[in-house]
This record gives sequence, structure tokens and C-alpha cells, in this order.
Amino acid sequence: MALSACGPAADSTVDTTPLSGRDIYLTRCTACHQVDGEGIPGNCPPFQGSPRLAGSSEELIRLLLLGQRGPLERDGKIYKGIMPSWRADLSDEQTADVLNYILATWSPQSPQVAAEDVAKLRAETANSKLLPSAQ
Ligand code: HEC
Repeated sequence: MALSACGPAADSTVDTTPLSGRDIYLTRCTACHQVDGEGIPGNCPPFQGSPRLAGSSEELIRLLLLGQRGPLERDGKIYKGIMPSWRADLSDEQTADVLNYILATWSPQSPQVAAEDVAKLRAETANSKLLPSAQ
């Protein structure tokens, strides 16, 4: 006589995991930054070796909230692309998650950021415009 299965089906796979930073990166950021973070010559700088990723996390959050227009010079090369503002598209948590994915992948020595930091800067920059040309 066969035993009948009882209890929840073993293969009930409703995914309730919130979008991870990597998922956000792959959906929203790779058109310019590319999956491997190498960017686009003349347009978008590579993440590897970026002084910004190694620098102030506050400036990075500001960059995501406000966007930034080039031209940016780095290692003797000019990048003229536009980094869009993500203020309207990503929540504080999503902004922190995607930034933390980038930091962990391309600048693991940098500290991770918290959603509270994003919330604070979101309020402070509420009336700010796209950041001017990169220094
Ligand atoms: C339309 C193209 C484009 C998209 C899409 C885009 N970026 Fe950018 N991003 C840029 C450009 C161009 C720069 C350099 C801006 C400058 O300083 O001139 C940049 C710079 C950055 C930097 C600073 C890196 C450095 O070394 O200067 C971070 C961090 C970053 N982007 C994160 C993101 C995240 C996260 C997303 C997705 C949510 C995203 N970007 C989507 C074009 C883009």
C-alpha cells in the first residue's frame, strides 16, 4: 500500500525574497556599467579601481540620488555619459542594497551603507539638481 503525501508540497516555491542589490544592478544599471562593471569607453567609467568607490559613501549616495553629468577624466581618459538620478525609482533600502552590491564586488575594502544614510541624504538633497560636471 502506497503512503500518501501529507503536509505542504515539497516544491511549493513562492519566492518572497526581496529584490537583492545584485538583481537591481542587473535590471537597472548594466546598460551603462555592464555586468562586469567595466563600463563603456568614452561614456561610463569602470568600477574597478574607482577612486569614488574607495572614497566617501556619502558622496556615492548623493551621486545615486542626484545623478551626475560628465565629462569626467579618469586615468587620462574622458567619459561623457550621464549617470541618471535614481531618487524616484529606488527606495532607501534599494539604493543601499544596490550600492552595497557594487561596493562588495568592486571595492570590498569600502564600508557598506545603511538605508538610514540614504534617507537622511534624500531629505537633505530634496531641492538639489543634477550634480554638475565631475571634477
Ligand atoms: C545611462 C547610463 C547609466 C545608468 C543606467 C547607470 N549609470 Fe551609474 N554612472 C553612469 C556614468 C556616465 C557615470 C559617471 C558620471 C560622471 O561622474 O560623469 C556613473 C557613475 C556611477 C557611480 C560612480 C562610479 C565612479 O567610479 O565614478 C556609481 C556608484 C554608479 N554610477 C552607480 C549606478 C547604479 C547603482 C545604477 C543603477 C541603479 C547606475 N549607476 C546606472 C552611467 C549610468
